[in-house]
Amino acid sequence: MVVLGAGPAGLVVGNLLQARGIDCVVLERAGRAQVQARARAGFLAANTVRILERHGLDEGLRLRGRGHSTCEFRSADGRFRLDYGGLGRGERHTVYPQQELVSDLLARFLGLGGRVDFGVEAVAVLDADTGQPSVTVRDADGRPRRWHARYVAGCDGRHGAARRSLPVGSVRRHHLDHGVSWLGLLAEAPPSLDAVGYAVHERGFAGHMARTSEVTRYYVQCERGTPAGAWSEERVWEELELRMWADKYGPLHRGRLLQRAVVDLESDVLEPLRHGSLFLVGDAAALVSPSAAKGANLAVLEAEILADALVDDLVHGDSKGLDAYSTRCLAHIWRAQEFSHWMIRLLHRPSSGEAGGSAAFHDSLRRARLSSLRTSRSQQDWFAEQYVGV
Ligand code: APR
Repeated sequence: MVVLGAGPAGLVVGNLLQARGIDCVVLERAGRAQVQARARAGFLAANTVRILERHGLDEGLRLRGRGHSTCEFRSADGRFRLDYGGLGRGERHTVYPQQELVSDLLARFLGLGGRVDFGVEAVAVLDADTGQPSVTVRDADGRPRRWHARYVAGCDGRHGAARRSLPVGSVRRHHLDHGVSWLGLLAEAPPSLDAVGYAVHERGFAGHMARTSEVTRYYVQCERGTPAGAWSEERVWEELELRMWADKYGPLHRGRLLQRAVVDLESDVLEPLRHGSLFLVGDAAALVSPSAAKGANLAVLEAEILADALVDDLVHGDSKGLDAYSTRCLAHIWRAQEFSHWMIRLLHRPSSGEAGGSAAFHDSLRRARLSSLRTSRSQQDWFAEQYVGV
């Protein structure tokens, strides 16, 4: 079994298979240090924690993860908090930085005797003539090599070789550009709120997400095409404080900006998620905009579905799970897409404008949606279920 990519998706697939005696090799383009240092997602859904627990992959997050169950919305109409841990299904998030999760998964995989080849880039996944899995890789010295496997798990992200190798016309790609961009920031500063903060402001969205006691993530909506370094640190903090109404609700804890990157909010879904012996998992299968932190959670869920199906097939000769893989995962993916889309429309005014109606009309819709969320218990239960669920 060949797994492409040592992100959350690839390492969960690898661990689950290796633990059940199926030999697999993970091929990863980046170096080990880089893989273990990538700060990306950090909000694990309750179901993700259950999956990791089920397979004995939860030791680190049990020790160092922190429960999180409140979000605060701020707008021109005031602020309100939703204690979503006490709403809907009563589930909460576990905040655990992705680089720690990836390090735990990697250590466990290697401990089970798994093999990871770092610095090895897959360039093609399927034999062009037979369509059978035949993974051509280029190692750090540029030397080509070939891996043959019964199945390939394409867990190499949205720009990986799995997507690129799909023959034209074999898979459809559904794509949506939300017309919204964020300047994503990692600040060396303690969190300023004991909750996830979402601010809806006429200058654009601003968000606050705790990572650790020393590091906080912020997001500021910016115009499409803004270079990541365009704003000085001073301007970033001023803009954040303005949009988060720091004059009313208290100043933010400022600190050095450790990372900044501009993200255009886009979504896509490939359909189906299987092409012969190649299965797409995680970001390779679908890109969910980061507005509702679904990416890593979906990746872990799909990885478990695929690993279970592969075990049924390879150990018990039962291929029904593999046949159903795409349909099962797509149902989860579209629900996550729908909720992320709703969150984007709740929090932003797209810079490319909204289809139909004046900007003021859409602004008023946003305020009305926030007002429903503030006042309607059933709306809050729905939000809580969707927000923590995958
Ligand atoms: N060959 C080998 N490895 C590759 C190739 C390639 N051609 N292309 C990319 N990779 C590696 C990347 O270096 C990366 O380590 O594949 C890995 C993909 O990992 P992620 O991008 O983290 O994707 P995935 O595991 O699907 O993660 C799902 O978790 O990272 C969060 O929120 C993020 O939505 C994302 C989710």
